[in-house]
Amino acid sequence: MRKLYALIGCPVQHSLSPLMHNDAFHQLGIEAYYHAFHVEREQLEEAVKGIKALGISGINVTIPHKTAVIPFLDEVDETARRIGAVNTIVNENGRLIGYNTDGPGFVRALQEEVKVEVAGKRILLIGAGGAARGIYFTLVHCGAERIDICNRTVSKAQELIAESDVAIASAAYSLQEAEERLGDYDILINTTSVGLYPHVDEMPISLANMKEGTVVSDIIYNPLETKWLQEARTRKAIVQNGVGMFVYQGALAFEKWTGIFPNVQRMKQIVIQHLE
Ligand code: ATR
Repeated sequence: MRKLYALIGCPVQHSLSPLMHNDAFHQLGIEAYYHAFHVEREQLEEAVKGIKALGISGINVTIPHKTAVIPFLDEVDETARRIGAVNTIVNENGRLIGYNTDGPGFVRALQEEVKVEVAGKRILLIGAGGAARGIYFTLVHCGAERIDICNRTVSKAQELIAESDVAIASAAYSLQEAEERLGDYDILINTTSVGLYPHVDEMPISLANMKEGTVVSDIIYNPLETKWLQEARTRKAIVQNGVGMFVYQGALAFEKWTGIFPNVQRMKQIVIQHLE
């Protein structure tokens, strides 16, 4: 029987996940269909009960439900629990198990697209919101020399560092402090929404002190290349946009559901075609 997979969130009408997953099912000859459901906050619990009642095989969870969904699940894996957010649910014979593939998706994209090894690197995360949490709690396990966090609200960066279960060198900075010491880092990662369409002229921090050859990664993929990444490219950085993180989080979710790691290059093409 054809299996059903779904995205729950609000809004979901512009999501590229259905295109990406349905194409992968088709390519692999898997009898399955992925549908995006608009679910309001107050209907989340009912929606999760519906997943069980209808026997939906797997779910992606997006804004604003990634944290709120946790109490309604039967089990949450340790990484997702630490991150405090679930973006992927597997329905195992009626038991709903929550995972987070956002942070791992980012790290996988960094390794596979930029071919950079995180081990031994000095990394600066910009931002301390939900996206930063996922990336930070994944990166701390990857052997970096240090991972600092700068944020407009410095206390949020401090809180994030204090929550880590891994003893790793990390400091919290204001955006200005980080700008001054930018030359100390091998990898810069923007996890904020600064530069996201329609605010395309904004930049999270100045790159004036960045050294050539630094890896500069922005999790934003609309626009495909933010003004910040364009500036980094001009300054001879190795740049990466957010398409990789989006595609790899999807590919890792797909693998949890089906046991098959899909063709990420194909997924990437589909996403880029629809964004250009
Ligand atoms: P997400 O889940 O996408 O990470 P979030 O949890 O709302 O969203 O976090 C947004 C991040 O972008 C935060 O780090 C936020 O900084 P604050 O913690 O100080 O709010 C950052 N951010 C958003 N708008 C910003 C702006 N105009 N300038 C600087 N930082 C900004």
